[in-house]
Order: sequence, then C-alpha cells, then structure tokens
Amino acid sequence: MNQLNSNSISVPRVSSRLQSLGVNFPFMVAPMVGISHVAFRELIRSYLPESISPLLFTEMLSTLRLPNEKWDDLPGPLTSVGESGFIPQLLGNEENYIAGSIEKLLPLHPWGFDINMGCPASHQLAHNWGVRLLGDIDYAASVVQVTKKHSPYPVSVKLRAATGGQIDLEYLIQFTKRMENSGVDWLTLHCRTQNQGHHGYAHWDLVGEVAKALTIPVVANGDIHTWQDAMDLLFQYQVDGAMIARAATARPWILWQLAQKLNYYDKPKNRWETSPPWTAEEEGQEYFRAVLRFSCLLESYFGDTPFALKKLTFFVAHGSRWLLFGHAFFHGVKRCQNLVHVRDFVNDYAEKNPQPMCRTART
Ligand SMILES: Cc1cc2nc3c(=O)[nH]c(=O)nc-3n(C[C@H](O)[C@H](O)[C@H](O)COP(=O)(O)O)c2cc1C
Repeated sequence: MNQLNSNSISVPRVSSRLQSLGVNFPFMVAPMVGISHVAFRELIRSYLPESISPLLFTEMLSTLRLPNEKWDDLPGPLTSVGESGFIPQLLGNEENYIAGSIEKLLPLHPWGFDINMGCPASHQLAHNWGVRLLGDIDYAASVVQVTKKHSPYPVSVKLRAATGGQIDLEYLIQFTKRMENSGVDWLTLHCRTQNQGHHGYAHWDLVGEVAKALTIPVVANGDIHTWQDAMDLLFQYQVDGAMIARAATARPWILWQLAQKLNYYDKPKNRWETSPPWTAEEEGQEYFRAVLRFSCLLESYFGDTPFALKKLTFFVAHGSRWLLFGHAFFHGVKRCQNLVHVRDFVNDYAEKNPQPMCRTART
C-alpha cells in the first residue's frame, strides 16, 4: 500500500486546451448513474478551494424522458439552487427529443451538454445510443450536429476506446476527428473497451494518441485511483484534463489534493482545515467523516427516505473498496434501516475500526 505523500513537489499550473473554453482547472468528476446526483456534487464541492470551479457531471439522462419530466415528480431536485459548472449528460439520438431535453435543462443554467457514447448497458443498446454510436461514425456525427444546433453551450462527447473488445487506433482517431469536424467542443475518452465494462486495465496510451491527433481538448478517464494517477495522465500523456470516476466516491477530496498540487492554496468554504488529508491514515479517517456528511446532504435533498438510503449504500458499495477493511464497513451500512441509523453505525465503526485508505481499490 502506498502512502500518499504531501511532501512531493507541487507542479506549476498547467496549460490545457480546456482554457480555450474558459476552464481553468483541468480535473473533473465523471457522470455515474446512481452516484452523480445533486448531493454527491455538493459533497465534492464541499472539499473544493473557493477559487476553483471544476466541471461536474450529472448522471446520464434519457432524452426520451426529459422533455416531459415533471420536476416535482422526481425524488429530489436535479441541481442545487444557483449551482454552476455542471454538465448534464444526455443519452439520445433523435433531434426532437434532444432539442426538447436541452430546452428543459436550459433554465437550470448548465455549463454545457455531454453526449454519452460509451454506455454498454443492454437497455441502452436497445435504444441504439450509448456505445452503439461509437460503432457508426455517420450516425454519431449526426447526433453531435443536432446537439450543437440546439445547445447555446459547449457540447462534449464521452466515448470508449472501442466497441467490442478489439482496439483499433486508426478507427478511434478517425472517429474522434469526425466528432471534432462535426462541431464537438471537447471530448473524454474512457480508455477501456466496451467488453471491459468498468474492469481491468485502462489503455492510457490511447488517449495520448488521440490528444495528439486532435485540436480540441481531450480528457482522459479510466482507472484513476489517486491524485498522482491524474497528474501522470496530464503530464506523461499530454492530455488536457483528467476525469475521476469511482475514486471520487472514496476520495471526494481528490480535487482538493490536485488543486494544492497546482498551487491553489485557498481552503474550502466552511472548513477549518487548510489542507486535504494526505496520508493513508488521514484519508481513512476522513472517509468516515465524508460518509457522515454525505448522509446529511442526502437527507437535505431527498429526506430520510428509502431512496436516499439506497443512494448512500450505493456510494459506500463503491468507495469502501479503497478502505483496508471496506467490506466489513459496507456490510454494516447495508444493514442500516435509515440515515439516522447509518450515522450511529458510522460513528461507532469509525471509532472502533480506524484504518488506512489504500492506493487502489480492493476487489
Ligand atoms: C456506478 C457507475 C455508473 C456510471 N454511469 C455512467 C454514466 O451515467 N455515464 C457515463 O458516461 N459513464 C458512466 N459510468 C462510467 C464512468 O463515468 C467512468 O467512465 C468509469 O467508471 C471509468 O472510470 P474509473 O475507472 O475511474 O471508475 C459509470 C460508472 C459506474 C461505476
């Protein structure tokens, strides 16, 4: 297990093509169904120095549903009051639904819109969207053009390294260049194939090649566990940004660590600490505090409901895998009946079972 070390050298603020879109902080948090809701984004923001405003994604949203969605029928709000810097991710392929969805979301003042070209779930494939778009360049280009036509804000695409299991770099570059020529403002590459799902090695070398071939900003995603991984991607592979996904459920302070490494030393609002947890032990302690805070945020948006409890359990199912004995913790949370019960359990467990956080997730 590696100790994260606060004494390593800070790096100068980076130059990234994202700056051409007004984005000054090159790290962001991914769209994740069941996780990237309003309470999660607020948890991430609670660990952010006041001077930075990174891009944070929503969960993927179906364009078939959005236009007729009644906000009041949802279990809670999609965004917080005055929330800025968020990007709704759209699953879609038909102009009238994409247009209707954008129109519905514009009053919430999103920073931009993202098109999902990576989801391999079978019910999404049945709609011919998600990773299906990646298999058909003309079709994907038409979805980009339609989205651009209706969006007054930047449009991005999040795609995988390949459909199926076979990587073909030539096709990937041809595909991404076509997205660029169709008007997409930037893109994110999840460096795994469709067949890999969320498992196994992410092919970071691919994203470096794509970044070299394109003129628009290219962001890397996949297999980022720590701030060092995110920095490596930026500097060794010369990409414009790095998108953190599951590791943000274990280390919701990871953007704060990255901010300090880029010499942003102001502290988050409403926190007394001037620096994030760095050592494995500090991170282990902070993890339990983050779960407690998250339970309060969930309650404030969704009430102490079965829905909120399910979201908390899902968050812990992912994040606890970075704890040394995360399995036992997760099973304790799973037995809780409501959020009050969760808080009692977490307080007691944290006191009796202090433990370090590991560099990578445990399987
Ligand atoms: C629970 C879960 C839900 C996800 N939902 C989405 C989604 O809605 N849209 C999307 O583009 N990717 C989604 N992903 C993929 C992540 O955004 C990311 O590409 C993937 O987890 C790889 O990054 P990681 O290895 O750092 O976790 C999801 C991943 C997980 C684990």
